[in-house]
Amino acid sequence: MKKIIAINASPRTSWNTGTLIREAAKGAESEGAEVKVYDLYQSEKFTGCISCFGCKLPEHQGVCVCKDGLTPILDDIRSADGLIIGTPNYLGDVSAGFRALYERLIFQSLTYKTEPRSYNERRVPVLFIMTSNAAEDFYAQIGYGALTVI
Ligand SMILES: Cc1cc2nc3c(=O)[nH]c(=O)nc-3n(C[C@H](O)[C@H](O)[C@H](O)COP(=O)(O)O)c2cc1C
Repeated sequence: MKKIIAINASPRTSWNTGTLIREAAKGAESEGAEVKVYDLYQSEKFTGCISCFGCKLPEHQGVCVCKDGLTPILDDIRSADGLIIGTPNYLGDVSAGFRALYERLIFQSLTYKTEPRSYNERRVPVLFIMTSNAAEDFYAQIGYGALTVI
């Protein structure tokens, strides 16, 4: 059975982002996947990357050594077959919680070498969802089309 991790990176658990995350989770479940949903802001206290470089040590390669509320989420993503992650648009960007998870998730995988560049042995497909309340015709004016984080 495929294991999917779904993360709502909005502080509001059941509003726009949370609703879409849960609908996407239902879709994956209807296809036979096992889905675990996290409301990121309900986690224990967490931070972004603290630049300790512990993840580059030979004994930890690719695994963030900072222990906090993100640790179980990072562990789950590492063993997942797919990741669904959603954030509200906050000031034209992702939420602060999303950014913290993003730093911790991506930085742990970088080897800081030319080859291989990543400690990961496989790719995890990602469905990225961003909700916002700007009118659609406003998107082009302020360049949301070019907004990419992953
Ligand atoms: C701090 C903050 C900043 C926001 N900035 C934007 C923005 O720049 N552009 C936009 O379209 N919506 C913005 N919004 C609206 C939210 O992105 C939108 O309502 C989103 O769907 C809320 O998601 P939620 O219901 O899951 O919390 C902002 C909302 C907040 C609270």
